[in-house]
Amino acid sequence: MKNIVILISGSGSNMAAIVRRAQQEQWSERLHARVSAVISNKADAQGLAFAREQGIATAVLDHKAFDSREAFDAALKVEIDRFEPDLVVLAGFMRILTPGFVAHYAGRLINIHPSLLPAFTGLNTHQRAIDAGCRFAGATVHQVTAELDHGAILAQAVVPVLPDDTADTLAARVLTQEHRIYPQAVAAWLRSQG
Ligand code: GAR
Repeated sequence: MKNIVILISGSGSNMAAIVRRAQQEQWSERLHARVSAVISNKADAQGLAFAREQGIATAVLDHKAFDSREAFDAALKVEIDRFEPDLVVLAGFMRILTPGFVAHYAGRLINIHPSLLPAFTGLNTHQRAIDAGCRFAGATVHQVTAELDHGAILAQAVVPVLPDDTADTLAARVLTQEHRIYPQAVAAWLRSQG
């Protein structure tokens, strides 16, 4: 059985979409995988309650309790590795990761970003897409490399930007698509590992 560890910072709706898919019988039978743990850097991340209700192990590691990014990432690595992950999934995990951390999980660390990469890396992607006059926006699942929001693209979804869109309405349209493509991309990654 392959172990998936999911990292969150907030509502965890992408994590929930992956967990729900993983609970489907054919999914776990065909892919021999399960979500083993959900780890958050914020104790009040709403997604933690959902994970606990599903009987999934949870852990909180508050980045503010550490003096440096390196110290936080080192502790996070220990926490993650307790679950012997085959795949580490960033799902709204709002921390920049150090090169050493990324190297440790090379090839088994993926992220979802709310833009059509390589456009709009970083934050405020929806407002920036509206301000740029984009007619289309979307989301990207990608391998994580040391450079923020780079790495091989695994999946993308495209949505229209409508004339009356605010960052919030566009974000909601994109998020619906994220919930579709992230579980698919996780399944595809697992299948590619044999
Ligand atoms: C999602 O839109 C995800 O793409 C974005 O945060 C949201 C998390 O929602 N991630 C980033 O901006 C990463 N830089 P969720 O907690 O409900 O899954």
